[in-house]
Amino acid sequence: MIPGKYDAEPLKENFRERFHAAPMLFRSPGRINIIGEHTDYNEGFVLPAAIDKAAYVAISQRNDDNITLASLAFNETYTCKIAEVRPLKSWTDYVLGVVDQLSKHGIAIGGFNLALDGDITIGAGLSSSAAVECSVLYALNELFALGLSKIQMVKMAQAAEHEFAGVKCGIMDQFASVFGKAAHAIQLDCRSLEYQYVPLHMEGIKIVLFNSNVSHSLASSEYNTRRQQCEQGVAWVKKYMPEVQSLRDVSLEMLQEHVLPKDTLIYKRCKYVLEENLRLLTACDDLKKGDIAALGQKMFRTHEGLSKEYEVSCTELDWLVQYVRNEKDVLGARMMGGGFGGCSINLVKENGVDALVEKVSAQYWKATGLTLSAYAVQIANGTEEIVQPGEKYAV
Ligand code: GLA
Repeated sequence: MIPGKYDAEPLKENFRERFHAAPMLFRSPGRINIIGEHTDYNEGFVLPAAIDKAAYVAISQRNDDNITLASLAFNETYTCKIAEVRPLKSWTDYVLGVVDQLSKHGIAIGGFNLALDGDITIGAGLSSSAAVECSVLYALNELFALGLSKIQMVKMAQAAEHEFAGVKCGIMDQFASVFGKAAHAIQLDCRSLEYQYVPLHMEGIKIVLFNSNVSHSLASSEYNTRRQQCEQGVAWVKKYMPEVQSLRDVSLEMLQEHVLPKDTLIYKRCKYVLEENLRLLTACDDLKKGDIAALGQKMFRTHEGLSKEYEVSCTELDWLVQYVRNEKDVLGARMMGGGFGGCSINLVKENGVDALVEKVSAQYWKATGLTLSAYAVQIANGTEEIVQPGEKYAV
């Protein structure tokens, strides 16, 4: 059930054969999020962690101003000039989007060859796109000695997602990918960007992802709609209280007074966000105290909110969460990430993992006709160069 570690040798080999040069190698991980969903773009709190699945980039400089890209997963190549990057609705967007950001910030780079690979399942809600953006930006930062700080890279990678992929995402995915730390979650305040690492003391408990293997096409348009609905709620409150900047400044009373009379749907969306922020803060205390049972119960409540009030779940994810609710070895579960498909995240007693995976897989197939994939995740470090002793620049 636990896939083997990624082997970067074939990527390096592919690069050498293709470009006849010695690459530098980088990785940037995907992420999970324990609790705090759809709160980041509302200046709220999140609790993500980087995982042991990542995007990998092999890269070297060229002597001209061309960019040549190769994707091992898609078995495709693409070449263009630095000055001519544009969105193509393809995997290239996550690479070229960060090149575009560098240009927009007036940061000059030269041409480069890049080969991309990885072991994050695409469309599973594990932020493979953020991982690609962050790995490419980190690689360019090192290759051309740009001197960008980690937080600058996070913000530029997020902007690349907005402008090239067209998803108005929050900052969580890119932040978790860059700042991840093995065995720790990151409690992040998305307003101030202050963060603290929270040790994941979960004796005898595994974090297990169930990939529904569905990814509904409305995910990005509905995501942007949710963001607009929250902004609309804020705008209505702000009319009476100009100091209000985001849902972070809004109380339930304000919503009841200024939003509920206007639109019950928008009220419902905003109320979920307010409650999720409060829930996250108490959930972090649970985690710090080692009270995983209490944390798990909050995850179930988050799922209810995401499904019924924020309405970003889907039948398959609801089924997965509902099914494990009364399983004795499951302490908590919910859908994770943007929604409309992808994974549920489950806190499962270690001894019960194998039996649970077997049972849920069989029943999921019966209920939906779909194959379930399960991963027990390890929490890993954030973006980094992979340097093997003595071979930094050897071919
Ligand atoms: C996606 C976005 C994140 C965040 C989550 C929902 O993963 O990229 O910024 O909004 O959805 O919490």
